[in-house]
Order: sequence, then structure tokens, then C-alpha cells
Amino acid sequence: MAAKWLKDTIFYEIYPQSFKDSDGDGIGDINGIVQKLDYIKELGCNALWINPCYDSPFKDAGYDIRDYKKVAPRYGTNEDLFRLFDEAHKKGIRVLLDLVPGHTSEEHPWFLESQKVQKNEYSDRFIWTDYCFQGASGLPYIGGESERSACYILNFFKCQPALNYGFYKVTEPWQKSFRDPEAMATREAIKDIMRFWLSHGCDGFRVDMAASLVKNDDDKKTGTSAVWKDVRRMLDLEFPDAAMVSEWSNPPLALRAGYDMDFCLNEPGGGYSTLMRDYYNHGGSAHGDRNAEDHSYFKKDAGGDINRFLDQYLTWYEDTRDLGYISLLTCNHDTIRPSYTLDPRELKLAYAFLFTLPGVPFLYYGDEIGMRYLDVPTKEGGYFRTGSRTPMQWDGSANLGFSEGKTSDLYLPVDTSADAPTVEAQEADRDSLLNTVRAILAIRHREKDLQADADFQVICSENDKPLVYRRGSLLCVVNPTGGKLETILPADISETIHGEVIFKIGEASAGNGRIYTDAQSFAVIK
Ligand code: GLC
Repeated sequence: MAAKWLKDTIFYEIYPQSFKDSDGDGIGDINGIVQKLDYIKELGCNALWINPCYDSPFKDAGYDIRDYKKVAPRYGTNEDLFRLFDEAHKKGIRVLLDLVPGHTSEEHPWFLESQKVQKNEYSDRFIWTDYCFQGASGLPYIGGESERSACYILNFFKCQPALNYGFYKVTEPWQKSFRDPEAMATREAIKDIMRFWLSHGCDGFRVDMAASLVKNDDDKKTGTSAVWKDVRRMLDLEFPDAAMVSEWSNPPLALRAGYDMDFCLNEPGGGYSTLMRDYYNHGGSAHGDRNAEDHSYFKKDAGGDINRFLDQYLTWYEDTRDLGYISLLTCNHDTIRPSYTLDPRELKLAYAFLFTLPGVPFLYYGDEIGMRYLDVPTKEGGYFRTGSRTPMQWDGSANLGFSEGKTSDLYLPVDTSADAPTVEAQEADRDSLLNTVRAILAIRHREKDLQADADFQVICSENDKPLVYRRGSLLCVVNPTGGKLETILPADISETIHGEVIFKIGEASAGNGRIYTDAQSFAVIK
């Protein structure tokens, strides 16, 4: 069972480098986040996910950790982070940190010990072959860099050696079983890190590459899942209120393994990405003509079919609704911002849909004002992802209010276009994307039927009709096209609806057993 506080929770993801610089060095920091807690609360988010903020050589933006228990000096100190937990809690905001259990930095002391010839406590903390010229049965590996005559397995980039959770099927003498003491020692080390932050006030973790731990574990049901069930047992006993969200993209597996929530973002074949941007049709990168071939559902008149998303979503939803939550997001630090192809009106409709679905939604910093994906050179292993990681745009002052430091010192350049969206400008405009997002989040908090647990049923998803779905006793209606659409409601639904529109973007109404929608509209109907 998922943590109870998730029932009415909307997360805000913060990429700490780029959110708010409080000390003028050009890089965002923990105290900057503290300064902006009121903004986050007023927006309607009541929980944070902060990307890794630990000591790191930053070859993968902090996902290469050198010390799991120390805040990177560029972000502040551990005391600053503890104070952030306190200040956030005072305002009713929970804080998830990012847990990276699959790999460390190649500069982590465990790895520096592990690569030594002399056998020591950390020799098996990573996965090593028996010999420097030996391949690794299909797994990515590095040879020729260590004192010991062996190759080590990678989990992601070259700087990220894989921690050893063992193999589900052992096929080589150098492989440990996932039940061997060496693999168990890694589990314990990760639990120890979790205990450290939880006992200082953190509320849980977003878990990086959660499915990657046990190797040769094809269906992930027994090996990798056993690790997470073990972690869950620890949490249930020691930190029963803690929540975990996995980067797994397989809710049935992740939630059965003990997760409260699972992101669905990367499922092959489209799914989520067909909502906002047809990510997979573009090979995941920001190249070529951004509008050509984008058949995402919320793109006006692009002919997108919502069923490409719903088919997968509904199967997962039915299978997992008693176990925990599916988490959808506006985008994240690895993907292209939705404003890359959607205009502000399309974004409003997309967000209205996202934030009226069941489960626990996530909003990526800056998406609430439609921050743009910028064409900037790669930074800290970001590559195409870097364009979604630029500084938050607060106001019209220098560096758009992100930093009082020198522009040349900024972590990444700010958007220099004359019409760069800012919080300040959008606060002054009643009809702005920001104010619409605030209104959508507010109605979700107000209406229990729009929150995580209320029933969800698709009433109409035919292509030439408005999309109509039921949440509890409410009807939600979306028409992303450029023309008016209407549909006849089934009699049993029609009987339960008064027809009062309690929230709308554009015009939509219900009456005489029908739903009527204007072009590019959304409504919640009682
Ligand atoms: C996850 C993170 C990504 C990182 C990778 C390796 O996918 O979201 O940013 O580069 O894992 O840790």
C-alpha cells in the first residue's frame, strides 16, 4: 500500500543547478530552493523531487555520486539540506531526494578500493571479471583502468561503474548470485544511505534506473524485485511514512516490488510520449523539423489518437490501482520540454488532462510557464537533455532573476529571447499558462474526485469526438482539435450529471444527454 499522504500530492521536480542561485556563484543551490518554497506552495505543488545534490565530479550532472551522504559544496551543506526539509515541512511540502542505487562515480571511495589488487571489503562491491582481457558476456565493461587484472561492468556512462547486486542467472565463474553475501552487502549499503537521509527529515526517494540492479534478470520479477521488497520491508518497519517512486516504466512490476509510484515515460512504442510530443518518432532527440510528423494528441489538428496512450495506461491502471500509483509528468530533466512543439493553449489542455488523471503527477520546474527547450551545447553529460536544464526564469531582472552573479558564470545560459516567459510576467496575466496551471492544481486539491484514488473510466475516446472520462462523480472533457465536437453520453452517465461546469478552458457544456465542446477546450462537469 502506498503512503497515505500521496492521495492528494502534486510533485515539483527541481534540477538544483538551475532553479535559484542564492549566493551569486551562477549555480542554483539549496538555499535558493528554500527561498522559493512559497512560490511552489502557491503554485499548488506540495512535494518536491530534487535531482541528485550530492558530492560528485558531475560527469553525468550528479548521477555519478562520489559521496552519498554529503551535499555537493556547490549546492551548500548538509545543514542547508536539513533546513530545507524543516522549512518545507512547515509549509506542508514533502521532499524526495534522488537515490542512485545502480552505480557510483568512478571516483567514489568504494570504487577506488575495489579496483585495488589487494583483496579488501570493497573488492566485490562492483562487478569484476576475473581477468583484464576477458569480456563481460554482453554487458558493457571497461578494461585497462584498474590495478587489479580485471574488467568492470558499467551501468550507464563510462564514469558510472555498476554496483554489485549479483546475477539472477549465473553463467560465468566471476558472477555472484543475487543471494550471495557480496550482493547482500551492497543492498545493506544502500539501505544505510536511505536511513541516513530519512532520519534527517527526507520523505523518501525517486529511484534512478530502479530496474537495473540485478544482472541477467530478464523478467525482473524475482531478482531485482527481491532487492526492492527487501528495501520496502526496512521502510515499513523503520520509516512507514516514506515514499518511493521508481524510474522503471513498468508499474505492474515496480508496484509489486514495493514502490508507491512508478513513472511511465519511456515505454517503447509511444504511450505517454504520444500525449505531449511524439518523442519516439523523433528518436528521443531534438533534431529536424519539430512540427513535422508530430502526431501527439494535444497538438491541434495533428490527428493524434489518444488511444495510443490509453491502451497501455488503462491496462496498467486496472492492474495496479490497488497497489499504488502511476506517475505521469509534464517532462523531466532527461526529455525535451513539452513547449518544444505545443503552444501555450495546447499546453494548458495537456496539463489539464495530466492533472485530472488518477495517480500522482509530477511537474518539471519551468513547465508551468512554458519554458523553452534551448539549443545549447552539452553540459555535464547532458547532450540533447541539456536544452531542458537551463535556469528558471523568474523575472525581467539580470539573468531573469535566477542569479545575481555574472552572466558569464551561469551554469547554463538563460533564454535571451525578448519574449522569454517569466513567472513575474505571467503572474500579471490572468490568462497565462502559470495562472491556468495554478487553477488546475487548485481544483484538484479541492475536489477529492480529481485526486489519486477516485475512480477513472473512459466514456468516449473516439477520434472525431471529444475525449470524455469520469473521475468519481465528475466528468472531464477535452477537445484538443481546432473545431467544435460533440458526443452523446450513455444514459447511465447522463443521469448522474447535473451539467454544472466547475472548471473550464475555452467553452464546453453538457445538456440533453450530450457533451458540447468548442475548439481547444477542457472542462470539469458535475
Ligand atoms: C537516469 C537519470 C539520468 C541519468 C541516468 C544515469 O535515467 O534520469 O539523468 O543520466 O539515469 O544515472
